[in-house]
Amino acid sequence: CGIVGYIGHRQASPLLVEGLSKLEYRGYDSAGVAIIDNDKIQIEKCKGRLLNLEEKLEEKPINGVVGIGHTRWATHGEPSDINSHPHFNKDKTISVVHNGIIENYLYLKEWLTSLGYNFLTETDTEVIAHLVDYYYKGDIVKAVSQAVEKLEGSYALGVVSSNEPDKLVSIRKDSPLIVGIGEGENFIASDIPAILAQTRKVYLLEDKELVVLTRDNVEIMTLEGMKVEKEVFHVTWDAEAAEKGGYEHFMIKEIHEQPKAIKDTMTSRIIPDSDEIKLDDIKLTSDDIKNIDKIFIVACGTAYHAGIVGKYVIEKLARIPVEVDIASEFRYRDPIINERTLMIVVSQSGETADTLAALREAKKSGARVIAVTNVVGSSAAREADDIFYTWAGPEIAVASTKAYTTQLISMYIIGLYLARLNGNMSVEEYRTIRDEMIQLPEKVEKLLEEKEELQKFADRNHMHKDMFYLGRGLDNAVALEGALKLKEISYIHAEAYAAGELKHGPIALIDDGIPVIALATQGELFEKMVSNIKEVVTRGAKVIAFALEGNTDIEKVAEQVVYLPKTISLLTPILSVVPLQLLSYYVAVTRGCDVDKPRNLAKSVTVE
Ligand code: G6P
Repeated sequence: CGIVGYIGHRQASPLLVEGLSKLEYRGYDSAGVAIIDNDKIQIEKCKGRLLNLEEKLEEKPINGVVGIGHTRWATHGEPSDINSHPHFNKDKTISVVHNGIIENYLYLKEWLTSLGYNFLTETDTEVIAHLVDYYYKGDIVKAVSQAVEKLEGSYALGVVSSNEPDKLVSIRKDSPLIVGIGEGENFIASDIPAILAQTRKVYLLEDKELVVLTRDNVEIMTLEGMKVEKEVFHVTWDAEAAEKGGYEHFMIKEIHEQPKAIKDTMTSRIIPDSDEIKLDDIKLTSDDIKNIDKIFIVACGTAYHAGIVGKYVIEKLARIPVEVDIASEFRYRDPIINERTLMIVVSQSGETADTLAALREAKKSGARVIAVTNVVGSSAAREADDIFYTWAGPEIAVASTKAYTTQLISMYIIGLYLARLNGNMSVEEYRTIRDEMIQLPEKVEKLLEEKEELQKFADRNHMHKDMFYLGRGLDNAVALEGALKLKEISYIHAEAYAAGELKHGPIALIDDGIPVIALATQGELFEKMVSNIKEVVTRGAKVIAFALEGNTDIEKVAEQVVYLPKTISLLTPILSVVPLQLLSYYVAVTRGCDVDKPRNLAKSVTVE
């Protein structure tokens, strides 16, 4: 979910709506605002996209210069008008927006019900509104601090009270929250883009820091009331970076930003003609690395797929065993972690709840943790020992593209770094890979020009219900990501299989006319892959193959071939994923899907 809050002299309603529009990627089941209008709280909220709320506010404007807003991704209680935020107490003197999950809400609900409180909704958040009401004795700050002491789970809260119309109270625990500092006005938001059009000065809040905003002041304190001094963080990136800039969708814009994102992520770390790898935020020494006997890469979704490539790459380069885990599995399976473990968490947002929980678990057991994340100052970045920032810029489309390719770059650079430090790689070997990597942005640029083949594929195949992706080695890892992209945005059932495993079951699914997307970029596995393609073609599949330039033999077996610029086998994932992203995009567009906001998905999943 996303939250925004405003206190100042300007009308709150348009500012809240504008802020929420920048947070829609955090969820878009419903939206709402609560604004203090002449010492009364006025609330408008409804199911569906923000547009619905905007229309309602146009019909029936709410005046007022203090307010909170919310865009929801449902957890407790289905998406509906009534379950939408903001929530309020019985006489509507207190209103709350909440991001996160209150784990003990049923217990609190029973308790409050026994005290005479009536509940209108099925949400966990409504409990907070009544709880604050219960503790309210004329001091909203005190009431909020007492209420949160009772809460178990995660929350970022914005609270207003019509009894104290010149205050906005906010607090976080395990859910992101920032404060925007203006002139005679202040903001809260769950993410920076929400307030960037208004201010570039922000405070990044830590867990359980309570913030009291007035027009002219921001006071941050602990729950015990101790004042917290905090440095102002200046946002340097551009608000325009978060806009669509001429493209039809954020996704296609972000696909096209990949050459730059890859370049930015490599620049200053991998330097032409230099044998040194510079990682400013990673402080591992060669002694630290010699002490490591196991690496875990833990992540969710697309970031997890980057981790699978990471396993191949790091094991090959640094010869350290790597295990890749889905964060929601890792944290509950009692993994073997100790001081000799290095954990790499990969997370675009740096706020994914399961990934953070895995990070904390690992730290508790003494592991060293590197966070690979795209968001400066995110929870993952703050809690890890070392950081690798992917410089992809803000990613808005729910389906991740440029974050993935920059995560791959991080895997290569970390792999090279470990290999150089533990003595597993000669300078010559390093130079070969370095020089190839430096050429990648240009090669991706070239690939982006070749869209016709993929559009053609989309025209022919968009009506199919199932598609299969095949590959071996690194191609198999990329196939997983290709299939996920297609599922996410086109709702076509897509499955990736290791091509060698095909005979052991999946081949039973191959039927007349079924599209198969085959990756054959791995030099030493090329012939084997050609045999696998033949196996499915014989059974009626229609194959589109992806191979490196020059490997024209593939045309004998595949119906359609897309060639990739030549590079070393280790680096092909950066190239092969790009046409797969385009393929999914064109299929989804041809099917008329909402590419940037696929059903049921959210960009940032800050609940378990
Ligand atoms: C959500 C998004 C995915 C993303 C995953 C992990 O499910 O829809 O696109 O890969 O979260 O997100 P993270 O921010 O941790 O990389």
